[in-house]
Amino acid sequence: MQIELSEEHVLLRDSVRRFAEEVVKPRAKEIDASGEFPRDFFTQAGELGLAGVYVPEEHGGGGMDMIAYALVIEEISKVCASSGVILSVNNSLVCDPILHFGNDDQKKRFLEPLARGEQLGCFALTEPGAGSDAGALRATARLDGDSYILNGTKVFITNATHADIAIVFASTDLEKKSKGIAAFVVPMDNPGLSRGEHEVKLGVNASGTTELAFTDMRVPVADRLGEEGEGFKIAMATLDGGRIGIAAQAVGIAQAALGEAISYAKEREQFGRPISNFQAIQFYLADMVTELDAGRLLTWKACWAKDQGKRYSLEAAQAKLFTSEMAQRVTNKALQIHGGYGYTREYNVERFFRDARITEIYEGTSEIQKLVIADWIINRS
Ligand code: CAA
Repeated sequence: MQIELSEEHVLLRDSVRRFAEEVVKPRAKEIDASGEFPRDFFTQAGELGLAGVYVPEEHGGGGMDMIAYALVIEEISKVCASSGVILSVNNSLVCDPILHFGNDDQKKRFLEPLARGEQLGCFALTEPGAGSDAGALRATARLDGDSYILNGTKVFITNATHADIAIVFASTDLEKKSKGIAAFVVPMDNPGLSRGEHEVKLGVNASGTTELAFTDMRVPVADRLGEEGEGFKIAMATLDGGRIGIAAQAVGIAQAALGEAISYAKEREQFGRPISNFQAIQFYLADMVTELDAGRLLTWKACWAKDQGKRYSLEAAQAKLFTSEMAQRVTNKALQIHGGYGYTREYNVERFFRDARITEIYEGTSEIQKLVIADWIINRS
C-alpha cells in the first residue's frame, strides 16, 4: 500500500495553491462580509480545468481523478470556504450526474460548458418539507406531450443566485414516494423558474444560496436525466460523490485554522514567552494535526474507492462525518488559542469557525451519515 501523492498530484496541488493564494484569498474576507457571489473566480477556475476536475477531457473537463478533485477543493477551501463549495457543487453535484446518467446529447449540450466553467450549476433537491427525508419531496412533474410541467419549491440551493443550469428533482407520481422521482436538467432562464433573495447565513456567506420556485415550468422530455422513477437513486449516488467534496472542504478549513493557530501561538507572548511553549497549547496543536491527518486519509480512501469504480457510499459517509466534526473541533481550538483576538473579525479564525459548521449539515447531516454507515455495516457487508 502506498500513501503518497503522484508527481502530477503535487504539481496540481501547488498550482491550485498559487491560484488560491493570489486570486481567491485576497477577497475571501470581503465576500464573506458582503455575500457577493465570486462569479469571476468560478470562471477563472474553469479556465484552469477546475470546474470539472474529473470530467474526461473529451467532455470539457480536467481529465483527472478523485484525489486530484479532493486536493483542489481542499486548497480552495483553505482560503475561502464559499469558493470551495461553489466549485464542489459544480463538480460533484452537477457535472457528475450528467456524466454518469446523461446521454450523449445531454453531455454535449450541458456537461461541456459546465465542465469548462462557462456555465455554473446548482443541485435542486431539498424542499421546505423534505431535507433529510429527501424522498418525501413534493415538487411534481406532469407529462404533457413532449414535455413535463413542473411545479414546486426548492430551498437552500447553493449557487442558485447565479447558476445557469439546475439539476431538478420532482415526482411524476407522489404515491410512489422515492420510486416516483425523476431528475431533470433545467436551464435557469426557463420562464417558469424564479429565484429568491440571497440567504444571509452564519458561514459560507458568498455561496449564492437561495430558494427556487417552479410555476408551470415546461421541461422537454429530452432534458430528463435517466428514466422516470430513477431520480432518487441518481440523487443518492450523486450525493455520495458530493460528500467527498464536502469532506475535502472540511479538511481545507481545518488546515487553514491549524496553520493560523501555529503562527499565532509562536508569535503571541504571555507570561514572558511564546504561548507555543506552554504544554496546554502544544497538546491542542498535537490533537488538531492528528485529527486533521486522519480526516484527510479517510477522504483520500473514499476518493480511491471511487477511482477504483467500487461502490463508495460507506467511505464517503465516513469521510464526511469525521471531517466535518473534526473541522468543528479544530476551528474551535484554533479560536481558543487566539483568545479574545480570535473572537474578533480582525483574525480569520472566526470565519473558519463559522464556515466549518455547515459541513456537518449540508449534503446530509452527521446523523444521516451515521444512518448510511450503520446500514452498510449491518445490512450490506
Ligand atoms: N446510491 C444508489 N442508490 C441508493 C443509494 C446510493 N448511495 N442510497 C440509497 N439508494 C437506493 C436504495 O438502494 C433504495 O433502492 P431499492 O428500493 O431499489 O432497494 C432506494 O434508493 C431507497 O433507499 P432508502 O430506503 O435507503 O431511502 P430512504 O428514503 O430511507 O433515505 C437517506 C435514505 C440516506 C436518509 C436519504 O434520504 C438521504 O441521504 N438523505 C439526506 C439528503 C441529503 O443529503 N440532502 C442534501 C441536499 S443537497 C445539498 O446539501 C447541496 C448543497 O447545498 C451543498
